[in-house]
Amino acid sequence: MKAGIDKIGFYAPHLYVDMTKLAESRNVDPDKFTIGIGQEKMAVPPMTQDAVTLAANAAVDILEDSDKEAIDFVIFGTETGVDSSKSAAVYVHELLGLNPYARAIEVKQACYGATAGIQMAKAHIAMNPDSKVLVLGSDIARYGLSTPGEATQGAGAVALLISADPRVMALEDESVYFTADIMDFWRPVYSDKAFADGKLSNEQYMAFFSRVWEQYKVKTGLALSDFAAICYHLPYTKLGYKALKTVLEEGTEEVQERLLASYNVSTGYNRNVGNIYTGSLYLSLLSLLEQTDKLVAGDRIGMFSYGSGAVGEFFTGILQSNYQDYLNIDRHTELFASRSEISVPEYEAIFEETLPTDGSTVKLDVEIDPARICLAGIADDKRQYVNKVKSVSY
Ligand code: HMG
Repeated sequence: MKAGIDKIGFYAPHLYVDMTKLAESRNVDPDKFTIGIGQEKMAVPPMTQDAVTLAANAAVDILEDSDKEAIDFVIFGTETGVDSSKSAAVYVHELLGLNPYARAIEVKQACYGATAGIQMAKAHIAMNPDSKVLVLGSDIARYGLSTPGEATQGAGAVALLISADPRVMALEDESVYFTADIMDFWRPVYSDKAFADGKLSNEQYMAFFSRVWEQYKVKTGLALSDFAAICYHLPYTKLGYKALKTVLEEGTEEVQERLLASYNVSTGYNRNVGNIYTGSLYLSLLSLLEQTDKLVAGDRIGMFSYGSGAVGEFFTGILQSNYQDYLNIDRHTELFASRSEISVPEYEAIFEETLPTDGSTVKLDVEIDPARICLAGIADDKRQYVNKVKSVSY
C-alpha cells in the first residue's frame, strides 16, 4: 500500500546572523564558515520561539480543516523538548486545533527523531488508511558562544503530513537502519547546550552513511544511477557533500553531474538556516523539491538520516505526479525574504537569555515576533502559548 509525504511545511525564526560577520567577530577567516563549513546565515530563535512554537508555525499553514479532522496521530521528533514528561506534541495538537481523537507523542534520538516518526507514521497508515499523521521535526541547535560548534547552530522546524495516496512523495518499503553506541554528540539533561566530539561526529556520520548505503545496495539491487538525487542530514552543508563524494565514482559522469547538481540545490535552505537537528534532512528535501525544475514524477530520491549517539538510516521516496502543485514555494520564499539580520552582540544577548526556573512569572512581548504562534511567557512553571490568529491562549 502507498504511503508517504502529502504536504511539507517549514518555519524558521525571523532573526538571523550573517556567518561572515560571526567569523569576523571570532577572528576566524570567513571562508572557513562560508566555504569550509558551508553556511551563510544562522537562524536565531527569540525567547518567544521554542521547539513547540517552531513546529506549530511549520504546520499551521499547510493544514486544511479536512487534514485536522483526519490527523489521528501527532509524532514530534525533537531533542530540544520543553518538558521531560509532557510531550511537545500535545501542545501542538491544541495550538492547531486538531481532532481530539488522536495520539500525541514525542520521540527522541538526536537528529534521527523525525525519521523514526515518519517510519512509525507509515506503519500507522498501513493499518489505518483513512487517517493522516502529522510528523514534526523541531529543534534549536545550541553549542555555546565561541565554541567550535557555534558555526553549526540554527533553529527551525519541518512539518510533514503523512497519508495514503501522498501527493508529493511515496515512501518505498526498503530501508536500511543501523545503531551503535557512540559518544559523538550528546546533551545531558542538566545542560542547555550540546557537547560534541566534532572530529568523531564527522567520522561517524561518514561511517554510518557508508554502512547503510552499502547494505541498501545489497538489499535492493539498486545502484547510484537509480537515483535522481540524494538528500542528507545536514548539520552543515559541507558534510553531506563529503558523504556524497565517497560514492560518486560508482556512477557515470552524467550520474555524477546530476547528483552533484541536485545536492547543491538541496543545501540552499539549510545554508541559510543552520542545523535544525531532526528537521535538517527534510529541510534539505524541501529545498531540493522547491528550488529545482529538473525533477519529474517517478524520480527516486534517496535520504540519509543520521542522529548522533547514533542511529542512521537510508531510505527512499518516489516523486508523485504534479508534486510541484502541492508545495508552498511562495510561502517559503516570503519567509526567507522577511527575516531580519541582527548583529553578533544582539545574537549573543538573545543566546544568554533564559526563562526563570523558580516558578516566577514572566510575560514575553509576542507583538515583536511576527510568528503566528508564540511563547507568551511562563507562570507557575507552566509555559503559556498563544496562537495569535486563533486568539486562543492557555
Ligand atoms: P572545526 O574543528 O573548528 O573546523 O569545527 P575544522 O578545522 O575541521 O574546519 C572545518 C572545515 O573548514 C575544514 O574542511 C577546513 O579545511 C575548512 P574539511 O577539511 O573538513 O573539508 N577551512 C577552511 N576552508 C576555507 N577557507 C579557510 C578555512 N579554514 C578551515 N580559511 C566542526 C568543525 C564540524 C567539528 C564543529 O563545527 C562542530 O563540532 N560542530 C558540531 C558537531 C557537528 O556538527 N558534527 C557533524 C556530524 S554529527 C551530526 O550530524 C549530528 C548532529 O546534527 C546532532 C544530532 O544528531 O542531533 C550534530
